[in-house]
Amino acid sequence: MTFDQMRISYTMAGLSESDLDADPFKQFVHWFHNANADDKPEWLEINAMTLATADSAGRVTSRIVLLKGVEEGRFLFFTNYLSEKGLQMEANPQVSLCFFWPHLQRQVRIVGRVTKTSREASVAYFATRPRGSRLGANVSSQSQAVPDRKVLEQALSDWDQRYSDHDDIPCPEHWGGYAVRPDEIEFWQGRESRLHDRLVYHRDGDAWRIVRLAP
Ligand SMILES: Cc1cc2nc3c(=O)[nH]c(=O)nc-3n(C[C@H](O)[C@H](O)[C@H](O)COP(=O)(O)O)c2cc1C
Repeated sequence: MTFDQMRISYTMAGLSESDLDADPFKQFVHWFHNANADDKPEWLEINAMTLATADSAGRVTSRIVLLKGVEEGRFLFFTNYLSEKGLQMEANPQVSLCFFWPHLQRQVRIVGRVTKTSREASVAYFATRPRGSRLGANVSSQSQAVPDRKVLEQALSDWDQRYSDHDDIPCPEHWGGYAVRPDEIEFWQGRESRLHDRLVYHRDGDAWRIVRLAP
């Protein structure tokens, strides 16, 4: 099959204004639970989302990160503050998040501003990560060039030995959380003939205004 022959019809469901909760975060959690239902494909990480960032010159980059919470109207994820994305968010806090849940033919798109979480929140989450991930965060200067893989494996092995008899692996100062406060959240449901449903919440002071967009 060639690229131009690849297409799927979206016929699973529709989305109308009356389906939506007035609170977009409740709506998100509702869709998230739908996406995480027992019959979801086991391999699918529904908390995986594309994070798009841009530097002050407008150069845009994107990558997948994992959503680790929705708290007080903010979407949380964790990473290295000195990575390419970290430096871009330092220069320009405007970001976008995008979830794709193919098994439901749904997409959620978020636009907002990012801030760092508190050091306490970063350290608390870091402590819940598996040992290998905590060691890895210490040895990886994320987004920097490395001469070869051996350098990383040697550094991991050195740290593993250093902490062989105790588990208090430190959370690096340059590692922690970000919280995205959305201005817009779009709920997208694929429909037949590409007449998809797109309902977008726009922040309007303390309230939210819902707008339907053409697909
Ligand atoms: C499914 C999946 C989940 C990921 N989760 C994270 C994450 O939560 N935090 C993170 O820093 N990188 C995560 N990554 C790696 C990033 O996509 C990326 O390679 C890394 O953060 C470096 O990005 P940057 O160089 O653009 O800063 C994940 C990758 C995949 C495929």
